[in-house]
Amino acid sequence: MLELKGKVALVTGGGSGIGEACAIMLAHRGAKVAVLDQNIEAAERVTQQIKSSGGQANALRVDVSDEGQVSKAVDEVISQFGALHIGVNNAGIGGDQAPTAEQTIAGWRKVLSVNLDGVFYCMRNEIPAMIKSGGGSIINMASILGQVGYANAAGYVAAKHGVVGLTKSAALEYGTKGIRVNSVGPGFIKTPLMSAVPKEALEPIAQLHALKRLGESKEVATLVTFLASDEASFITGNYYAVDGGYLAQ
Ligand code: NAI
Repeated sequence: MLELKGKVALVTGGGSGIGEACAIMLAHRGAKVAVLDQNIEAAERVTQQIKSSGGQANALRVDVSDEGQVSKAVDEVISQFGALHIGVNNAGIGGDQAPTAEQTIAGWRKVLSVNLDGVFYCMRNEIPAMIKSGGGSIINMASILGQVGYANAAGYVAAKHGVVGLTKSAALEYGTKGIRVNSVGPGFIKTPLMSAVPKEALEPIAQLHALKRLGESKEVATLVTFLASDEASFITGNYYAVDGGYLAQ
């Protein structure tokens, strides 16, 4: 049983899907959890669920693509919980579906600003807070599409590759300060993000995985929780897929 008692975690995009499962699992293992989301009602629903099963959690509204809001939110976590040891930088959007030359500039900027700038802004604020807290573990939510391409998703794929690179650089810089930084790459997971995909397209997508099914948010949260814990003490600077075998081909 991974023990996170005494740890303080923040999870961005914690109001839905993978982030929600991460927030609940981290709290279940004993961490105090700040649930950050631009959808405050969703974040509050998750914190209520955590509190009703005996955990400690607080909801904060933040748009991760706004550095000022991220900075304020991290300060707020420190003032509410006194430290920061775990950062799950998970908030993300799907982005526009179009061939590269037909992607709009606005669509490109939007997906990069949430999925890549957002992760950078979080790390930029989490790292000094973690150094003051005596060290920590950052888990950045990448994707299988941080390792391979995917047609009609140029911005999303570029952002997720960026997250993997950002993760490696920060791991090299802050290892001696007691901070581990890793990225996680889910295959296709059943979450509200996937609701944009037409139902008839879901089965062919499931078939792209060796396990011939979509993943569950909990299956991602299990890996995130392990990487967050001291059990993963020699693991940093890497990318870990949780993809039902998608990348095996
Ligand atoms: P979701 O749509 O269920 O949840 C995303 C959450 O992030 C929502 O609560 C939303 O309000 C929040 N959010 C979106 N933009 C935000 C912003 N600018 N600031 C703060 N919060 C914001 O999505 P899901 O599927 O749980 O995705 C979570 C992460 O996992 C994303 O980074 C996504 O790219 C990644 N991922 C998802 C996969 C999937 O198949 N569902 C596969 C691989 C990666």
